[in-house]
Amino acid sequence: RTTFRWMWRGTYLSLLGLVGAVIYDGYLDRYPDVQFIPDPEKKTLVVLGTGWGSVALLKKLDCANYNVIVISPRNYFLFTPLLPSCTTGNIEHRSIMEPVRQILRHKKAAAKFYEADATKIDYERKVIKISDNSDVKGTINETEVPYDMLVVGVGAENATFGIPGVREHSCFLKEIRDAQAIRTKIMDCVETAAFKDQDSAEIDRLLHMVVVGGGPTGVEFAGELRDFFDHDIQKLIPDIAPRFKVTLVEALPNVLPMFSKQLIDYTESTFKEEHIEIKTKTMVKKVTDKTIEAEITGPDGKKSLITIPYGLLVWATGNAVRPLVKDLMSQIPAQKDSRRGLAVNEYLVVQGARDIWAVGDCAVAGYAPTAQVASQEGAFLARLFNNMAKTEALDTKVKELSSSLNVRPGNAAEITSEIESLEKQLRRQKDIKPFHYSHQGSLAYIGSEKAVADVAWFNGNLASGGKLTYLFWRSAYLSMCFSTRNRVLVAMDWIKAKVYGRDVSRE
Ligand code: FAD
Ligand code: NAI
Repeated sequence: RTTFRWMWRGTYLSLLGLVGAVIYDGYLDRYPDVQFIPDPEKKTLVVLGTGWGSVALLKKLDCANYNVIVISPRNYFLFTPLLPSCTTGNIEHRSIMEPVRQILRHKKAAAKFYEADATKIDYERKVIKISDNSDVKGTINETEVPYDMLVVGVGAENATFGIPGVREHSCFLKEIRDAQAIRTKIMDCVETAAFKDQDSAEIDRLLHMVVVGGGPTGVEFAGELRDFFDHDIQKLIPDIAPRFKVTLVEALPNVLPMFSKQLIDYTESTFKEEHIEIKTKTMVKKVTDKTIEAEITGPDGKKSLITIPYGLLVWATGNAVRPLVKDLMSQIPAQKDSRRGLAVNEYLVVQGARDIWAVGDCAVAGYAPTAQVASQEGAFLARLFNNMAKTEALDTKVKELSSSLNVRPGNAAEITSEIESLEKQLRRQKDIKPFHYSHQGSLAYIGSEKAVADVAWFNGNLASGGKLTYLFWRSAYLSMCFSTRNRVLVAMDWIKAKVYGRDVSRE
C-alpha cells in the first residue's frame, strides 16, 4: 500500500508539474521582455507573407541585425496540416492560428507588421506597393515600403486551370475562411435535404459531396467528411443517412501520387470500405451551380463525358502562381522560362534579381510545394541572414583595426594578431553551405482513424498505414503545432469532439 501511495503521489506531482509548465509557458507568452527599438542605420529587411516559409524565417532571425518589416493580408500563422479537420469541426479554427504579433513580440528587437497585400514589387526602385484590402479602411489604404533586402514568401493560390464555373461554384481549402465556408455549406446541404417534403432526386443531389483532386488535400478532406457523417450526422439525422455520398474525382490513374504504391492501394481500399467512391482518370471540364461535367478515360482508352450532380463541391487541384509573383517574374529577364514560380539558386536568391530571396510555394527550388520544404527554407534564410550580419560586423571591425595600425604603430603586433583572429572567424562565417532539403517523410489522414505514412527511417524509407499510423499522425502534428497554446487547444478539441461529438450548428 505504501508503494502504491508513493506511485500515486509521483503521478500526481508529475501531472501538476506538466500543468505548471503549460501555465508558465502561457505566462511567458503573455508577458514578453522589453524589445530594442529598431536602428535606422541598419538595413531594412522586408518579409512578405506570414505562412510556413516566412514564419520559420522570423522564428530564427536575429531581428537586432536588421529593421524587420513583415507584410501580409493575414495577421496570423496558419497550421495548414490540420485545416481539413476544421471543415467538420473536429478542430476549431482558432486552435491552429497563431497571431503574428505574438510571434514578433518575442524578438530581441521590435519588428513592424503591416496587414496588407503587397500589390507590386518594383525591383528597380527597391520598393513594394502595399494595399489594405480588409473591410475597415482608413483614409490612406495604399502606400509604398522601401527595402534593402526582400524575402518573398507569399505562397500560391488555388489552381483552377481556367475551367469554367470553378471560381463561382466551388469551395477551396487553403485558408481559414475556406474551411469555415465548407463547414457551413455541409450543414446547409444536410438541413436542406432534411426539409419537409424535399424532392427525392434533390435529396440525393444535396447529399452528394464531390471532391475534385486526389492529392493529399482532397484525400484528407474526403476522409474527414466521411467521419463527420458516420460519427455525428448519421446519429442526429438518421432518416437521410443512406443517401449521403462522397465522391473523389482525380484526373490521374490513382490518388496520392507522391506516396508509395502500397500506400496508394491501402488508401483506395480503405476508401472503398468507407463508401467513398474514387473516380480516377476523370478530368473535370466544366462546373455549373449544381453539376460537374467530366471526361472519363475508359480501360480501352475511349473518352466519354459524364455529368455529376452535387450539393457541395470542394476543389483541391493544387497550386497556381500568385499575380504578384507573376508580375515580378515578368520584370526579370532571367525568369522568363520559369512557369511555376520564382526560380531561385541554391541560396534561395531569386535568379536575375539583386537582394531578393524567395521561400516556400512561390519559389522554384526543385522541391515539392510543402510546409516541410517551406519551413526548412525559412530556417535556412534566417541562418544566412544572421551570418551575413555577423560577417558585416566582423568586416567593419577588421577595417577599423587596419586603419588604427597607422595611428598606433606601437601596438602593431597586438593589432595584427587581433586582425588575423578576426579574419579566421570571417572565413568561417563566409563559408555558408547552400540550402539542402532533408525530407522527413509524408503523412496523410485517410478517415476512419487511419493514416498513411512514408517516413525516412535510418537510411531507407518506412511505409505504413492504419490505426497505429493514425496515432503517429496525431502525435506528429500535435508536436509540430506552432505553440504550446495551439497544442493544448488542439488536444482539447479532439477530446471534446470524441466525448460530445462535433458541433453541427450552422453559423
Ligand atoms: P503559405 O503558408 O501559403 O503562406 C503564404 C502567406 O503569404 C500567407 O500569410 C498569405 O496571407 C500571404 N500572402 C498572400 N498574398 C500576399 C501578398 N500579395 N502580399 C503579402 N502577403 C501575401 N504541407 C506539408 O508538408 N504537410 C502537410 O500536412 C500539409 N497539409 C496541408 C493541408 C492543406 C489543407 C493545405 C492547403 C496545404 C497543406 N500543406 C502541407 C502544404 C503547405 O501548407 C504549403 O506548402 C505551405 O503553406 C507553403 O508555405 P508558404 O510559406 O510558401 O505559403
Ligand atoms: P496536388 O497538386 O497534390 O494534387 C492535385 C490533384 O488534382 C492532382 O492529382 C491532379 O491530377 C488533380 N487534378 C488537377 N486538375 C484536375 C481536374 N480538372 N479534374 C480532376 N482532377 C484534377 O494538390 P493538393 O492536394 O492541394 O496539395 C498541394 C501541395 O500541398 C502538394 O505539394 C502536397 O504535397 C501538399 N500537401 C501535403 C499534405 C500532406 O503531406 N499531408 C496535405 C495537403 C497538401
